[in-house]
Amino acid sequence: MEEHGTVKGGIYETLPTTHYFDSAIFEREKTRIFHRCWQLAGHVSDIPNQGDFFVADISGKSIVVLRGKDDIVRGFYNVCIHRGHELLTGKGCVNHIICPYHAWMYDTTGQLQNVPNGDAFPGLDVTGHSLNQVNLNTFMGLILINLDKNTIPFEEFAGDAANEIRERVPNLESYVHVERTERNSPANWKIEAENFNDCYHCPVIHRTLTSGVVDPTKYRTRKRPYGILHESPVRPDEQKSFDYMADANRKTDKFITWWFWPFFVVQVYPGGYVNTCRWKPISLNETKVEVDWWMPSKTLSPVEAELIKQQRETTFHEDGEVVKSVQRGLESGGLKKGMVMVDEACSSLSEHPIVAFHEHYFAAME
Ligand code: FES
Ligand SMILES: [Fe+2]
Repeated sequence: MEEHGTVKGGIYETLPTTHYFDSAIFEREKTRIFHRCWQLAGHVSDIPNQGDFFVADISGKSIVVLRGKDDIVRGFYNVCIHRGHELLTGKGCVNHIICPYHAWMYDTTGQLQNVPNGDAFPGLDVTGHSLNQVNLNTFMGLILINLDKNTIPFEEFAGDAANEIRERVPNLESYVHVERTERNSPANWKIEAENFNDCYHCPVIHRTLTSGVVDPTKYRTRKRPYGILHESPVRPDEQKSFDYMADANRKTDKFITWWFWPFFVVQVYPGGYVNTCRWKPISLNETKVEVDWWMPSKTLSPVEAELIKQQRETTFHEDGEVVKSVQRGLESGGLKKGMVMVDEACSSLSEHPIVAFHEHYFAAME
């Protein structure tokens, strides 16, 4: 019987290469995918106090994430309901939101409170108006946004991953942001997604990761309803590339990545160190990649600093070089369709996660 999430061995097709540089397809992806998926906007520690806010770019839409005076975190389109001026920029703390154009004023729950000359406008009832809210869920401190009004809640979407993350990082909610590593990748977002989920390239490209962090002979990737799960036992102590403590009782003895279709991951490194990575399609051939590290304290321990530096200089950098080259290669027109190689065991040297990515992709684009 096939293990859940495995794919039959064989040679599958890539997406037609035009999918990586056809603007009509990119436009369709916006409505079918970008505006209908759960995306990672930040963490509750970014807005610890009532009135704290930040403005997030969610697939080209400006969204205000604001902790109200009632302590509830909400997301609003950053647009005044009067005539459309944007309301806030950057990040900060507000008692009210006052539109810079005609000074309409909202409270921190998004409710309209005051309109200059309001008493003189017949038919105006300010209590009947508020900012246009988006779907926002918090999960273990992570702030997640979905522009689709009819979406299911994030935890329902995450399924098994929700409890797995709870089990592996029970204190994630109280963690704080310590560092970001980022790059503007000159590649289509699907090249980034395929590359991230493929481990066939790991022993070729990621020597540090495969010799000192994960065990490629036991690394497994499996399709899940929410995306793709990556899991690997860690290297024995004498081989490890940074000084982690792998402890089975504390459940810090694995490398695990939950890749949430289509744009973000939660990753736990050996020793229990957590990062999130998100991909933001800027244009057809440009994707912003952001890795954020979350730790129990702002002050980094030597091991934490070592891991962050190592990930930035090895895996992260190495993937950046690969995706650039693939975009150039596909745009050359010298390849119409490529091959996706799947072995019977769905081992780490098999491209079944690419098949899984394509299944998620076609289901969303239908
Ligand atoms: S557009 Fe905001 S007050 Fe007029
Ligand atoms: Fe990689």
